[in-house]
Amino acid sequence: MSKSGTLLLLAGAVTLGAALVGGCRSNPPPLPLSQLNPQQTSGHELFDAKCAVCHYEREDRPKNGPSLLGIFKKAALPSGAPANDDRVTATILHGHGLMPPMGNQVDEQQLADLLAYLHTL
Ligand code: HEC
Repeated sequence: MSKSGTLLLLAGAVTLGAALVGGCRSNPPPLPLSQLNPQQTSGHELFDAKCAVCHYEREDRPKNGPSLLGIFKKAALPSGAPANDDRVTATILHGHGLMPPMGNQVDEQQLADLLAYLHTL
């Protein structure tokens, strides 16, 4: 078989594998907690301490606020704002709708750790 044929086959197998693992959800699942790097792990701990009272992040159902599952894999945040670091940072710092501002509870390092974790979802 030609080299490009082999590559095509490989690509097909990878796509099929991803589809099987992902079930009918279009986005890939969150990175397993056991695979987080130190910064992401710190972000996960911060999430548990500061966000988990109101948000599920590994389950696709709302708590007090919307689920944050796959938050950066979707085109838009629940509000319709673009799903990017700037908007999520502003949400955390200044609040949004019923979500309280939390700028006085996280320093710059913690904010970066939180974002690193949210990117694994
Ligand atoms: C006291 C409850 C509460 C806490 C604590 C909380 N949130 Fe929220 N959050 C909400 C609610 C309610 C909404 C929906 C707000 C709206 O759009 O009216 C929301 C919305 C959001 C959104 C979507 C914003 C948008 O534009 O759609 C993000 C992202 C978010 N929260 C992240 C976080 C993160 C990260 C933390 C922890 C640092 C956190 N939240 C802590 C209640 C909370």
